[in-house]
Amino acid sequence: MTEEQQQRQHDSAEGEEEGDGLVFGVSEDLVQSRERSAAHTGSFDFDGLLQPPLRVHIDLTKGNGGTTWPAGMTLATYLLRRKREALKELSIVELGAGGGLVGLAVAMGCRPKHTLHITDQESMLALMRQNIALNNLEGQISASVYNWGEATPSAIPKHPDVVLAADCVYFEPAFPLLQQTLRDLIGPSTTCYFCYKRRRRADQHFMRKVKKDFLVEDVDDDPDRESYARENISLCTIRRKREG
Ligand SMILES: C[S@@+](CC[C@H](N)C(=O)[O-])C[C@H]1O[C@@H](n2cnc3c(N)ncnc32)[C@H](O)[C@@H]1O
Repeated sequence: MTEEQQQRQHDSAEGEEEGDGLVFGVSEDLVQSRERSAAHTGSFDFDGLLQPPLRVHIDLTKGNGGTTWPAGMTLATYLLRRKREALKELSIVELGAGGGLVGLAVAMGCRPKHTLHITDQESMLALMRQNIALNNLEGQISASVYNWGEATPSAIPKHPDVVLAADCVYFEPAFPLLQQTLRDLIGPSTTCYFCYKRRRRADQHFMRKVKKDFLVEDVDDDPDRESYARENISLCTIRRKREG
């Protein structure tokens, strides 16, 4: 992705809107992210599910992944509530991890036996590493650069058991790249937990394309579902379609 595209991506996530693309208006979380833009360290216990709470350094100077996002909070809370035991045994890769909130919460709450990989663009690497250290998770998590659309880094399992992606749907030029990465990473036994907030019509078009490629199913065992659905947040699983 060129520098110009990266800047547009940053601006896009900060509330810039396209001509006919506005579906839900300027979303509250985008406004909040501006208010919370001064660098600081926050504590997150995900509705009391994580004790001691996770500590996350928030710093928007490196890009929009430097803060917390509503779909990330939703996904982490769901995984801690419903998948705590199941995730212990599984290999896990997070895409577009930002500061690492979801992956860090899973590592702390589930203690998976395999190294958990949080990934993002180069600009997020230092923040991911800072947050790993802040929670003493160096032995359990590895942070690396994984640009969507590019070859899967060699350190990452080719087809992990679980792929996590939260709030990765927000910048149209990156959609084909993200779709390519989902194709690369999702193997026959992979489950991708994909949580996103619908902000524009283009987001729905993207999900329609994903549905052509994959089996996409809404997560239906989350007691919080109705409450985040009101904020246009969806949580689904994405799996390979069975051949034949
Ligand atoms: C809105 S943030 C969400 C961060 C985190 N998942 C959360 O929920 O808090 C989207 C993340 O996707 C990353 N991202 C965007 N385009 C990307 C690309 N082409 N390759 C890899 N990561 C990308 C951004 O750097 C950013 O950290």
